[in-house]
Amino acid sequence: MTETLKFEDIINIRKDFPIFNTGKKLIYLDNAATSQKPSIVIDALHFFYSKSNANVHRGIYTLSEEATIKYEEAHKKVAGFINAKSFREIVFVRNTTEAINLVAYSWGRKNIAKGDVIILSQMEHHSNIVPWQLLAREKGAIIKYAEIDNRGKLRIESLESLLKGKVKLVAITQMSNVLGTINPVKKITSMAHKAGAIILIDGAQGVPHEPTDVQDIGCDFYAFSGHKMLGPTGVGVLYGKKEILNDMPPFLGGGDMIKSVSFEEARWNDLPWKFEAGTPAIAEGIALGVAIDYLKSLGMTKIRNYENELALYAMDKLKDVNDIEIYGHLAEERGGIVSFNLKDVHPHDVASVLSSENIAIRAGHHCAQPLHDRLGVSASSRASFYIYNTTEEIDALVNGLKKARKIYG
Ligand SMILES: Cc1ncc(COP(=O)(O)O)c(C=O)c1O
Repeated sequence: MTETLKFEDIINIRKDFPIFNTGKKLIYLDNAATSQKPSIVIDALHFFYSKSNANVHRGIYTLSEEATIKYEEAHKKVAGFINAKSFREIVFVRNTTEAINLVAYSWGRKNIAKGDVIILSQMEHHSNIVPWQLLAREKGAIIKYAEIDNRGKLRIESLESLLKGKVKLVAITQMSNVLGTINPVKKITSMAHKAGAIILIDGAQGVPHEPTDVQDIGCDFYAFSGHKMLGPTGVGVLYGKKEILNDMPPFLGGGDMIKSVSFEEARWNDLPWKFEAGTPAIAEGIALGVAIDYLKSLGMTKIRNYENELALYAMDKLKDVNDIEIYGHLAEERGGIVSFNLKDVHPHDVASVLSSENIAIRAGHHCAQPLHDRLGVSASSRASFYIYNTTEEIDALVNGLKKARKIYG
């Protein structure tokens, strides 16, 4: 029997989220943008600021020492959650975008030279394109894109054909934030390594939605955001293999990232603090640890399976809407994201009609313009699910789309 979240689980989960208990109807289907937050995460922020606020790694007084312990514990929770070897491989940053920029800036500027090749895929978020474009422009490197097929699946043979010559880096998403496609990142990692390249995985849509084991994947870097996995905004994670992080120059300079500073020079702090310059997002980091506890209590395999069920249900029901085009047709290898277009209706108009029914979806290019170019459209509507969504909400989405169809002909 498939491990999944049951109807009773969802009822209980929804009780944990204040935003669903205000008395106002809200069907929130924009989880790929950011997730809602359970009370325990909100309470953790409140508790920190009201009872234990102090800076970390500085004060020789109890409050600061306690804050330091909790902040470091949060790194350990993250390490455990993604099965990193050590918390020293866990750098807290602001979000996925900053994590990828950190690698592009620090690892990239040291290791990428003129004529080197960086491989991305056609389904990347702008956060996993633009930092590499900046680097490539500065260094004279070349970016190549592995193709997707018409079902929204990565063409492994396309990737394979690019993995030759001076390939230094592969950077690829674990799950597309438009198509819901889940990429075989373990296989891709071994292909990249065979070609002598290192690999970064954009896990913004990975860790929140499925069990993640960086050692099993074997990747060199893995980036994700706390706010997409029930945690607060302002904190994200860069996982990097210790030996690679040790070999990289700092990203930002300042307090906390040094061991000692003289008028002439500075010595870098141990990992991960070498990459955490200045006062970090302390309360947010601690609250991210609490979000992880919550996700673990539900079970990541159950979450993964439940979201897959919701996506398949949605894809089936959406077919009842006249003149709808759905992007990405994979079944098992997809997460809880479904993007579509109503023929001759702009996605913004679709989203407005749905908003009048208190249904929140995303409309636009979802920070994946090149992918939309590949799909031959300028924008799309996107419904993305999480642990608190239900099939009834998907029915309401479908009814809302039928209403939009009626209004716009
Ligand atoms: C696949 C993917 N990568 C990167 C990002 C960027 O995340 P953030 O805005 O938290 O940096 C997103 C956000 O939607 C995403 O879906």
